[in-house]
Amino acid sequence: MTTLFDSHRLGDLTLPNRVVMAPMTRVRAAAGGLATPSMATYYAQRATAGLIVTEGVQPSSIGQSNPGTPGLHTDEQVAAWRPVTAAVHANGGRLFAQLMHGGRVSHPDTTGMRPVGPSAVPAAGKVFTPTGLQPPPTPRALETSEVAEHARSYARAARRALDAGFDGVELHGANGYLISQFLSSNANLRTDRYGGSVANRIRFAVEAATATVEAVGASRTGVRLSPGGTFWGIREADVPALYAELITELARLQVAYVHLEATAGDEVLLGLRRAWPGALIMNPVLPMGPKQTGRAEADHWLGLGADLISFGRAFLSNPDLVERLRTGLPLAPVDEATYYQGGDAGYLTYPAYQHTA
Ligand SMILES: Cc1cc2nc3c(=O)[nH]c(=O)nc-3n(C[C@H](O)[C@H](O)[C@H](O)COP(=O)(O)O)c2cc1C
Repeated sequence: MTTLFDSHRLGDLTLPNRVVMAPMTRVRAAAGGLATPSMATYYAQRATAGLIVTEGVQPSSIGQSNPGTPGLHTDEQVAAWRPVTAAVHANGGRLFAQLMHGGRVSHPDTTGMRPVGPSAVPAAGKVFTPTGLQPPPTPRALETSEVAEHARSYARAARRALDAGFDGVELHGANGYLISQFLSSNANLRTDRYGGSVANRIRFAVEAATATVEAVGASRTGVRLSPGGTFWGIREADVPALYAELITELARLQVAYVHLEATAGDEVLLGLRRAWPGALIMNPVLPMGPKQTGRAEADHWLGLGADLISFGRAFLSNPDLVERLRTGLPLAPVDEATYYQGGDAGYLTYPAYQHTA
């Protein structure tokens, strides 16, 4: 039986194990969306992962969701990422940048621009801004002629990611951000070719993936999805058909992997596993749910046919997660208070397991 510690071929990479670090926004970038030396240390501490997927990175300035997140749309941002990718590679790791366009989950106080979305429907909840949480504004609905430009922004950022030394990119198609807004049936009320039918609702995701594959190659392109997820007020009609059609298109593009969140029942998820011929990264628990991914959930999903398992919170608080899982050492708990603040505290301060005599 496959274990977490077997190697796996992913695109052109050989991963030494099947433990993936899940993408986690940490809001510690410098002004201008620049990666920092602390970010290099943070990711390098976790380089024993089979693959690291970074925090969400904005592919354009209007695509920024939270303040303090890094970007991949300026030359300065590319230069700032280079020491991060070099540090991870020096420690023997591999990393993909998660490209995250926030769409309507954004604020003019953060970007200086009115957010855009498929339709003029605001997100539910409160968004982070430089002055604290605020209600999300009503986005400006993109004109039909503008949509392709936003799809291409992922591809341009992907090219910059490779320039910065990343091994590939993951398109953030989950959790209520722009791609997920297009997939939805209540954030997307469009009557043009990007809304309504399943074929139309997946079009933006497919255009973004196609452009990215053309820019950097299928072996360097992954896609994260949250079938049926309800983040930021998203609702999706026809979940099984929507994702089955999307998976068919991603299979045609031969992207390196699909990264699924456990936002639907096992029946839907297992159906997608059967329909997806490529590598599947499974994130086995509900994002921000009370229970975090651990060894039991990972083994369960490897048994159900996942190829790789992503760990979020456990990796945040255990830089040596792979070793702890391999040897059965206890996991350190995560401090929620420092998820999105605290500088190096709660970021670089989680130690590797301390063996005592
Ligand atoms: C602090 C924090 C930040 C997160 N940021 C992102 C993100 O930027 N992109 C994303 O796709 N998921 C994000 N997630 C969700 C995680 O990738 C993961 O799906 C979730 O934590 C559940 O997995 P776990 O139980 O292993 O933590 C975040 C989760 C946490 C805890």
